[in-house]
Amino acid sequence: MNLLDINSLDQYHKEYQNSVDNPQNFWSEKASKFTWHKKWDKVLDWNFQQAHVKWFEGAKLNITENCIDRHLAKHANKIAFIWEANNPNEASIKITYQELYEQVCQVANTLKSLNVKRGDRVCLYMPMIPQLAISCLACARIGAVHSVVFAGFSANALQDRINDAKAKIIITTDISYRGNKVIPLKEIVDKTLEQTPSITNSIIYQRRNNKNIQIKKDRDLWWHEIVEKADKECPATSMDAEDMLFILYTSGSTGKPKGIVHTIAGYMVYTEYSFRNTFQYQENEIYWCTADIGWITGHSYMIYGPLLARATTVLFEGVPTYPNAGRFWNIIDKHQVNIFYTAPTAIRALEKFGTEIIKEYNLSSLRVLGSVGEPINVEAWEWYYQNIGKENCPIVDTYWQTETGGFMISPIAGITPEKAGFATLPLPGIQPILVDNNGNEITANEIEGNLCFKFPWPSMLRTTYGDHKRYKEVYFSSFKGYYFTGDGCRRDKDGYYRITGRVDDVINVSGHRIGTAEVEDALDLHKNVVEAAIVGFSHSIKGQGIYAYVTCHKTPQDIGNFKKELLQTVTQEIGAIAKPDYIQIVPGLPKTRSGKIMRRILRKIAQGDTENLGDTSTLLDPSIVLEIQKNALSIQL
Ligand code: WT7
Repeated sequence: MNLLDINSLDQYHKEYQNSVDNPQNFWSEKASKFTWHKKWDKVLDWNFQQAHVKWFEGAKLNITENCIDRHLAKHANKIAFIWEANNPNEASIKITYQELYEQVCQVANTLKSLNVKRGDRVCLYMPMIPQLAISCLACARIGAVHSVVFAGFSANALQDRINDAKAKIIITTDISYRGNKVIPLKEIVDKTLEQTPSITNSIIYQRRNNKNIQIKKDRDLWWHEIVEKADKECPATSMDAEDMLFILYTSGSTGKPKGIVHTIAGYMVYTEYSFRNTFQYQENEIYWCTADIGWITGHSYMIYGPLLARATTVLFEGVPTYPNAGRFWNIIDKHQVNIFYTAPTAIRALEKFGTEIIKEYNLSSLRVLGSVGEPINVEAWEWYYQNIGKENCPIVDTYWQTETGGFMISPIAGITPEKAGFATLPLPGIQPILVDNNGNEITANEIEGNLCFKFPWPSMLRTTYGDHKRYKEVYFSSFKGYYFTGDGCRRDKDGYYRITGRVDDVINVSGHRIGTAEVEDALDLHKNVVEAAIVGFSHSIKGQGIYAYVTCHKTPQDIGNFKKELLQTVTQEIGAIAKPDYIQIVPGLPKTRSGKIMRRILRKIAQGDTENLGDTSTLLDPSIVLEIQKNALSIQL
């Protein structure tokens, strides 16, 4: 089963050509190895202009049978997950495919007993513990839709997401451990649940023996009192190919996050195919992705892709620098990790600690390295390649998005010749094109343009939850007939792609997407703020940092305190990840006569690039620019 589709560069090219010449045959063949209750009537039906995409219509299946049951006959005792706790002295836990089956069934039966039906939404707000992966699969088992909310989001952000999805149940934990911090998740959830009428019950997994947790009778249920007593068999609900599998919220260019919707069959086929081939996964290898399940990387390449490919995956609860900056390398040696997949921001942060600490570790189990989340700069790429891969491991720089569900442009490990900083070539089935600002295709090489895809792929998003119009507008209206990514991209003389970054009002901070409008809306809530404008700037570790320009009703008496309050407001509204690095109080914002903020100028000032601000003649009050410039906060680049 684990035979790879791509074993050589020549085969990659053939496979790619085949996928473009005959996509329906191509994907129908890839899909045939899975367990289906009924095969599809039609492989693909689509029309980008009408925002319509359907794969494998007519088919019936359950994705958890493909993730788990399918492997049990011969591989019941294979390890599915190895869990490593935040505290290195806490024993790690291994979960076999058989145990995973039983635990998923127990949670599935619990959800059923709480009246969760096919199509109902379940919110998961949990740290990186196996019970999070198990809860996702339990939803899928009974046809419920999971909506995982990253446990770093605030009570308010969680509330918005629960209410948008009208989730019935929330699963959480008493606390979460992150480095030397203890975060009171249940307390946050209690605040959230004050205004979430759709929630009937919460299930709380006890991560720590703590008697001080407040339990609300009739609403809150302990995991150990309910799940662990449930039956270990639960029949898998027969689902339609295009039924919803999950919702995952992500930021866009308006203040309101979008619920990205992925459906079952196409997502299944593509995450398995892309996982196995990109990493060249071999039976019995240990794979570790350091992402959080709260992001798409965790969904596609920690749960679904690896389980579908019958892989063994490491889940890590903690952070890279706890108890010290050698933790990642320690875990690699401890669990003999073969494939290590992380983010440029983590690589850059660890690079700062020097190479001395790495020498304490062997790292010889590594075969493949991966990078995801933002463009990896050449320096970080080289450092990773030399110091972690010891010049022996290919690096797959995987370019993709929450919306794409799976890898779009990436080297095939050890097969595609790499270039530092390049995501290289599209995977089979993926048809990138670059267009100019008028939507005309640019066919030449050695050029830059807006990155679009001209043909559907099985794991693409199908809608934004509850708002199909937004889906159509955001992805299919900028450039007629194409899916637009929001990214700029360069294609070099060899046809290799290099992502240059977002071209919309989205900032990529430490590999996480933050909408400028979301942060602006949060700052606006402070009673002394008239208006805020947010821009990104290059940050040596985070990739991009957040720079806030704020106008006030009254000049604050204590500026330090005012800024603290602003940071608190952002933390409360969104979460600590969205806190600005710099806040500059300005007398006004540079606006055009039509009232539009000229962000181009604010970006340049934030970047420290004050020489060449370009044309400012259309500004209502050009003098404001000098004023802002004069007091700009200096940035360490
Ligand atoms: C945005 C998507 C995909 C999982 C993590 C982020 C940027 C992602 C790369 C890469 C250059 C990248 C893009 C994209 N991005 N991977 N390998 N090289 N840029 O998911 O939060 O949906 O963000 O991240 O700008 O549009 P996301």
